[in-house]
Amino acid sequence: SVPVITVDGPSGAGKGTLSALIAAHLGWHFLDSGALYRVLAVASLHHDIPADDEEGLVPLATGLDVNFTCENGLHRVVLEGEDVTDDIRTEEIGAVASQVAALPRVREALVRRQRAFKDQPGLVADGRDMGTVIFPDAEAKIFLTASAEARAERRCAQLKAKGLDVNIARLLSDIQSRDERDKSRTVAPLVPADDALQLDSTSLTIEQVFEKALDFINS
Ligand code: CDP
Repeated sequence: SVPVITVDGPSGAGKGTLSALIAAHLGWHFLDSGALYRVLAVASLHHDIPADDEEGLVPLATGLDVNFTCENGLHRVVLEGEDVTDDIRTEEIGAVASQVAALPRVREALVRRQRAFKDQPGLVADGRDMGTVIFPDAEAKIFLTASAEARAERRCAQLKAKGLDVNIARLLSDIQSRDERDKSRTVAPLVPADDALQLDSTSLTIEQVFEKALDFINS
C-alpha cells in the first residue's frame, strides 16, 4: 500500500512549506488540498455561482477542469485551460474558498479527487482534514499551529514578496475570521486527529519545524 503523511492546520502556520520540504526529502507526491478549494472559488466567480449556492457548486466541484503541473520545478495550476496559479493565492479567494469549503456536499464531491493523488512511492497531503477525513489511515499525521499574529506576519511577508499590497491588521482579522469559519463548520471542522503530532511553530524556524517533523515521521 502507498504511505501517506498528512499535514493539517490553520492558515499561515507553515503547512505548505513543511509539506513541500517533506515531499522533496522523501521524493513523494504532494497534495495541496487548499489549492483545490481555491480553484473551486475562482471557478465559482467565473461562472457567477454564489459561495453559498450548494446546489450550483456541487456539479462545478464534481466536473472541475483543473490541472496541477510541475515543469522544471515550477508549479502551475490550470483551470479550464487558463493559468490561475497566481489568481488563487489572494486573501479574497482564500475567503471564498473557506465559504465553499463549509458546504458538506461540496466537500464530498472533492473526496475522490483528493484520494487520487495517493500514488507510489508515497504522498504528503496538506490541508485541514487530511488526517481526519481524507486519509484517516495515514502513517504519520502532523497538526501545525502558530499564534494568529505570527501567522498574519508570515502571510504578510509572503504576499509582499509577490509584490502584492498588504495591510497587516486586515490580514490578521481575515485570518481570524477564516479560522473561526474553518473550526466551527459542521463538516470536517479544523481539529487535530487524535493520533497527530501537534507542533506549535510560533517561535520555531522552518528548519526546526522540519527537523521535529522528520524525527516524528522516523520514530
Ligand atoms: O494557504 P492557507 O492556509 O491560507 O489556505 P489554504 O490551505 O489554501 O485553504 C483555503 C481554504 O480552503 C481554507 O480556509 C479552508 O476553509 C479550505 N480548506 C478546507 O476546508 N479543507 C482543506 N483540506 C483545505 C482547505
